[in-house]
Amino acid sequence: MSADKPYRATVIIVSDRAFSGERADRSAPVICEKLTATAFKVEQVRIVPDDCEPIRLALKAAVEGGSDLVLTSGGTGLSPRDVTPEATRTVIERDAPGIAEAIRAYSMTITKRAMLSRGIAGITGRSLIINLPGSPKAVGESLDAIVGELEHAMLMLAGGDH
Ligand code: MTE
Repeated sequence: MSADKPYRATVIIVSDRAFSGERADRSAPVICEKLTATAFKVEQVRIVPDDCEPIRLALKAAVEGGSDLVLTSGGTGLSPRDVTPEATRTVIERDAPGIAEAIRAYSMTITKRAMLSRGIAGITGRSLIINLPGSPKAVGESLDAIVGELEHAMLMLAGGDH
């Protein structure tokens, strides 16, 4: 654990096309860039297909591996293959709905299509899990909405007084 980057983050890209290699993932680099000036170090990026079980297993592995922050990207929309929120729901112990609300509220000032993301957020053990939409543009805008509050979230998760 380094002093300037005390928190560990895992990124899970949920995309059939990135998983099959049909299309290169462009969202993880955006997430890493947005976290550059923060207290979070991205330790692992995983790519999984749009299926509940691989998503659930990747989330569980990240939590059990001690990630403080687990960001998913993709699979939050309305298409039949979009199951990231459902998979996330199976892992989350306590909801943190305000985070998803903040993402959508901020994103709605940019595009009304933000209402189409069904992403959720919550806590499992000491890990904070947040669903982000999939496109590089959407993921960047969504992080802009919340990134400034994530360190405070970590302090609270650790039982800190605020
Ligand atoms: N949020 C922001 N900030 N910017 C966007 O461009 N796109 C929306 C929405 N959220 C968007 C956004 C669109 S078009 C969709 S379909 C949903 O996210 C779901 O995206 P996903 O299925 O890739 O997760």
